[in-house]
Amino acid sequence: MSHEDIRKKFLDFFSARGGAHAVVPSSSLIPSDPSVLLTTAGMQQFKPYYTGEADAMADFSAKNTVSIQKCFRTSDIDEVGDETHLTFFEMMGNFSFGGYWKKEAIQYGYDFITKEMGLDIEYVTVFDPEKVPAGDWRKNGVPFDRESYEIWKNIGMPEEKIVREGIDVFWGPTGNEGPCGPTTEIYLKNANGQAVEIWNIVFNEFYCDKDKKLTRAKTPGVDTGMGLERLAMISQGVKNIFETDLFAPIFDKLNSDLPDKIKRIVADHLRGVVFLVGDGVRPSNKEQGYILRRLMRRVITYAYRENLKNSPEEIMRTIVSEYHGMYSNLDALAIEEVYAQEYAKFIKSVGVGLKELEKLTSVDAASAFRLYESYGLPYEIIKEVAGTKAGRLVREEFDAEFKKHQEISRAGVEKKFGGHGLLLDTGELKAGTPEEVAKVTRLHTATHLLQYALRKVLGNEVKQMGSDITAERARFDLSFPRKLTPEEINAVENEVNAVIASDIPVIMKEMDYDEAMKSGALAFFKAKYPQRVKVYSIAGVSRELCGGPHVEHTGEIGKFKILKEEAISNGVRRIRAAIK
Ligand code: SER
Repeated sequence: MSHEDIRKKFLDFFSARGGAHAVVPSSSLIPSDPSVLLTTAGMQQFKPYYTGEADAMADFSAKNTVSIQKCFRTSDIDEVGDETHLTFFEMMGNFSFGGYWKKEAIQYGYDFITKEMGLDIEYVTVFDPEKVPAGDWRKNGVPFDRESYEIWKNIGMPEEKIVREGIDVFWGPTGNEGPCGPTTEIYLKNANGQAVEIWNIVFNEFYCDKDKKLTRAKTPGVDTGMGLERLAMISQGVKNIFETDLFAPIFDKLNSDLPDKIKRIVADHLRGVVFLVGDGVRPSNKEQGYILRRLMRRVITYAYRENLKNSPEEIMRTIVSEYHGMYSNLDALAIEEVYAQEYAKFIKSVGVGLKELEKLTSVDAASAFRLYESYGLPYEIIKEVAGTKAGRLVREEFDAEFKKHQEISRAGVEKKFGGHGLLLDTGELKAGTPEEVAKVTRLHTATHLLQYALRKVLGNEVKQMGSDITAERARFDLSFPRKLTPEEINAVENEVNAVIASDIPVIMKEMDYDEAMKSGALAFFKAKYPQRVKVYSIAGVSRELCGGPHVEHTGEIGKFKILKEEAISNGVRRIRAAIK
């Protein structure tokens, strides 16, 4: 059955059952719950309905919902390349918030798989605390799920196919706290004869608080999740998820002689890139942006080493056209632009980085982190390329190096700028609290955009004569012989806001002063610069010698407004501007 047919069948099946399920669109990969980085399950957008903070009847006119949710699991990144794991995938799920309970949920699962899909169930699992290791929080007060066991038995499942398991069949919570409970899973056989977990049916009987204490849920709820890719694999009788119609168009674009593992990683990561960028993530060194950056850089490294017959951009266009009908927010041009910027940034160093990596005789967390810091090589690439030389390298230690480094550089900034109240005073930037630093940082990047906009509107003779930035406003002095007209002020504001709206990354590179000058960077206080300088660039807009700090993306700045324009001396104008 094609993936389109599976989608439709699933939504139709549940729309007609349980007193109707409201069909709810997938939520963004960036969840509203700040305790999780990305959406990893269909239930996340429904968390408040389980806890009683929100009322499903009021919002959906139903106690049950059904969705096909975009999900991203970083926890599986090291598994990608095998036959069943993905970072990005789609999860089909039905949910009930005080509507139906175990009997119906299990019956629906059984009917959908056996009758609608015409597939045989290999075995199912149920929760048994006996299988949970001593001391684990899930052992406390969670009984054997006899109810599910009996329901399966009554449906006709032979007892030897109702397998008792421990922590693998207790789900949640996502983030620090939330609904959780025992689950029953459905396993099907794939074309290789292996049993594959297809569907996880969770009974949210408990609420788990921050200290891992369980209390009974006010409204017991059902939360189920079935991997679309895996179900397509079984239904289409293929040996792995990459042979399904979901991946076929992507694989057609990849050189057929590439090793399977690389093909799978490239296909998986490019889908991840498309969907993360589509939901507004931009590459950076933290949080979601860091995940995106690693996916992109891994693909760029393969593209660099393997001579792909189609560029990653071309493959991403294929992905967008395949998914556009389901996810109309995907914009191929915007995605390619983000990719191109990251490519431009990384491609210069990837070759050197790989050579440096080759020279090392063994790679530990510290040397791996140095390769990341100096050449941008992501952990996954280092681990893979170094092979046995990185035998002892583990992700946790690399992450610890990363964290250590972030703490050192944060402490460095505070030390440099005083620390005692005066957090930041560089002469032109003044801020006393971390909040003010954030505001000043945004205004600082805005002045680089102002510089660009003024030169664009008034001509390249405009020169910056000085600037002064506080959390409230930026002051910017420029050489210009006359008053600006209201039209010119408007045009300047519009130019700045257009760059903000394009959300372009702000990129910093250290280089020799001469090299910076040759690259066309603007510098207005020549005498002040040391031999090694930092150049901040915003692709297609600005390139300036500058000490920073700056935002990572222009989109972070907010709305830019010019408050006042006046003369301060002969031929020098002063602009005051603010951001909202
Ligand atoms: N929340 C469960 C899972 O992610 C079922 O949807 O597996």
